[in-house]
Amino acid sequence: MPTQTNQPHQTKHTNSQKRYWRSIALDLACVPAAFVCTYALSSYFNFSEHYYVWARQYEDNLDIDELLPALLASLVSLLWFAKRRINESKILIKKNHALLHRVLEVQEDERKRIARDLHDDLGQYLSAIKAQAASLLVDANSSAEAQLTAKSITSSANHAYQATHNLICALRPVALDDLGLSAALENFIDTWRQINSVTIQTETISQVNYQLHIHGDIDRYHETVNITVFRIVQEALTNIAKHAHAKTVLIDIESKANYLTIAITDDGVGFDMSKKNSGYGLLGIAERVEALTGNMEINSHTDATLANTGTKINIQIKV
Ligand SMILES: Nc1ncnc2c1ncn2[C@@H]1O[C@H](COP(=O)(O)OP(=O)(O)OP(=O)(O)O)[C@@H](O)[C@H]1O
Ligand SMILES: [Mg+2]
Repeated sequence: MPTQTNQPHQTKHTNSQKRYWRSIALDLACVPAAFVCTYALSSYFNFSEHYYVWARQYEDNLDIDELLPALLASLVSLLWFAKRRINESKILIKKNHALLHRVLEVQEDERKRIARDLHDDLGQYLSAIKAQAASLLVDANSSAEAQLTAKSITSSANHAYQATHNLICALRPVALDDLGLSAALENFIDTWRQINSVTIQTETISQVNYQLHIHGDIDRYHETVNITVFRIVQEALTNIAKHAHAKTVLIDIESKANYLTIAITDDGVGFDMSKKNSGYGLLGIAERVEALTGNMEINSHTDATLANTGTKINIQIKV
């Protein structure tokens, strides 16, 4: 349960690229700091005087005045060395992204396989159980007790069949393969509305107002992008259902020339992200975004006295 704080809490999830540039800025800030410290210490201890006295004793044997160009050459070598290390780090980051990409691909393949096995094996057996129970029901020779048991078996098999079907849908969004990203998302949000709705007399009322806005053509992307967007929306909505107690949820997806943006906003209770949590959902979203070298930012307001509480996840993916 998220805690309430007196101040509105804002948190930003930066990706590793931002962290990388921040560390470079910090390193660069160390250079003037080192300069000022060295200058102050040298002045205090009169370093140049001592150096001059020391250098004079070698003047006849060594060209000590040539030390400066040699030092300059060392500096250039050091810069060249640093440049090579930076290039190597860039290559490592690229390899890391590729690896993350591969891990997620393998995970999706595995989910596909499990969904297929569940459908082909368990689905078939459950159908067989239902058929056998049905034959017992229509058998005139079966006793009343057997008929009652057959009814109960049919009901349990139906229940197990529905549970398996839901599991298969969560493991592998079939609509994504068949209909494309926009239709799969609409389909998913519709299901979500149904789950969160109550039927009063004959009228079905959704307890949460889900709004999906799609701008531009989002059906032109590679399977990896499709599954990434789908899984992000899936986890964000699961989190909202589990933690937010929201009334309105807005899902905005916009396709631009080179990137795709996803904004998921809820007006729920919000949460304090400075507190450690043991969940994997947000971490999973961050990893998926990272694998596509995207950016993710989370803003969450937890102050109950503010009208504007809730959570907003902004994601930008290069496509
Ligand atoms: N929309 C939201 N509204 C309020 N709190 C949220 C929201 N999204 C995430 N949280 C908070 O952030 C925490 C971390 O979320 P995360 O999805 O990583 O883990 P989880 O949902 O607790 O567990 P898991 O996803 O592994 O089943 C949650 O425990 C919850 O406190
Ligand atoms: Mg979660």
